[in-house]
Amino acid sequence: MHPPEEGALRKRPAAEEIESILVWHPRAEEYRRALQARLPGVPVEVRSGAPQSPSPSNASVLLAWALPPDAFQQLPRLRWLQATGAGVDELLARPDLPQTVRVTRSIGRFGTQAAEYTVGYLLHWLLRLEDYRRNQDRGVWRQLGRPLLADCTVGIIGLGSVGSAIAERLTSFGADVLGVCRTARPMSHVSRVYAMRDWRRMLPACDALVLAAPLTDETRGMIDEDALRTMPAGSALVNVARGAIVRADALLATLRDGHLAAAVLDVFDQEPLPPDSPLWTEPRAWVTPHVAAPSEIEPIADEFAANYQRFIDGEPLQYEVDRDCGY
Ligand code: GLV
Repeated sequence: MHPPEEGALRKRPAAEEIESILVWHPRAEEYRRALQARLPGVPVEVRSGAPQSPSPSNASVLLAWALPPDAFQQLPRLRWLQATGAGVDELLARPDLPQTVRVTRSIGRFGTQAAEYTVGYLLHWLLRLEDYRRNQDRGVWRQLGRPLLADCTVGIIGLGSVGSAIAERLTSFGADVLGVCRTARPMSHVSRVYAMRDWRRMLPACDALVLAAPLTDETRGMIDEDALRTMPAGSALVNVARGAIVRADALLATLRDGHLAAAVLDVFDQEPLPPDSPLWTEPRAWVTPHVAAPSEIEPIADEFAANYQRFIDGEPLQYEVDRDCGY
């Protein structure tokens, strides 16, 4: 006999235990279906954009991304907000988000996604795939140098769920992985962890630097020209975190003079990247439209439903954001 599945034993919540949910998201209908399958009997209201005129909601729980400017004024009973993404910098920066509202993030499969993106682009760079394609188009038979990822040292700034997944995948290719974390402590797949205050000391060893840290007062603009020039000539930068962590002028200067051999950029200070940005045509930059780690409905609905149950039961929420730290 099989044991009953977890959840099958869970009783339906009594009416007084129900906290109504609002999903405010461009894909709200899909989230509603996913939540109703996991939380039968719990009312789920949906909004996918800004309503024509402000319309208050009694929801105490919000699952959301990309809220319109006056959203929180329409939610007087809000107690808990779960973001469908990993980075909550924009939400926390909103002056209308009441201090009393608890905020959680999602973890989803962002680590796996960002790791595949990072490994894919680093291999793409090292294997010189574009050079060979160009040579093939011109019928040119020419052997080019080929460094191995296994011989590279890669530094990762931010060793949360995303950074540590990237570290694990890079290690399996034989790369030596260094990392920066708020406080230095031993971590698997990272041969040396630097505390945030020592992060610049990691740079001279890095053939590639991967940014996987949240955007906070401490990380905003931290990758300046001095940092980029402290990396070895011919190194690469991968940014799957937030554009504002890197100073745009320093990035362009070091790409243009070739100190930085490659920049793989998924995130930008301003998104979409404006049509006149010089990054579009910079030969050493690869630009992608914030796709390294997209939110997927099913794993995020699983996480949210589990957290909802914790919320109802008065247990600690998973992935709760420390609003003072910013993540
Ligand atoms: C996307 O950028 C996210 O923070 O999940």
